[in-house]
Amino acid sequence: MSEPLTVLCRSSWPERPERVVPVAPGVDLFTAIRAAGLPIASSCTGRLVCGRCVVGVDGPVNAAEEEERAVLEREGVPELRLACRTIPGGPGVVVTASYW
Ligand code: FES
Repeated sequence: MSEPLTVLCRSSWPERPERVVPVAPGVDLFTAIRAAGLPIASSCTGRLVCGRCVVGVDGPVNAAEEEERAVLEREGVPELRLACRTIPGGPGVVVTASYW
């Protein structure tokens, strides 16, 4: 059985506090971050349609698949990830958004 992971949620505003969020194995960032009580922008509730759940991600996560890359290109942020399609793969993941 895999150990539970945590990710560090960091605001793009340096004065705001960081939060450590638990992520069960195989669970995406959108689900985990919302379960921890932090907001994630969305109008499709994690269905890979709206492109609003974009976050910066550093550390070991799954690779973006073609559908996710297409949404990120459409939104003009190919360097970011969709929280609803990003799954941590190990310790040390840092997630950044401007609204935390
Ligand atoms: S929540 Fe809509 S694309 Fe991720």
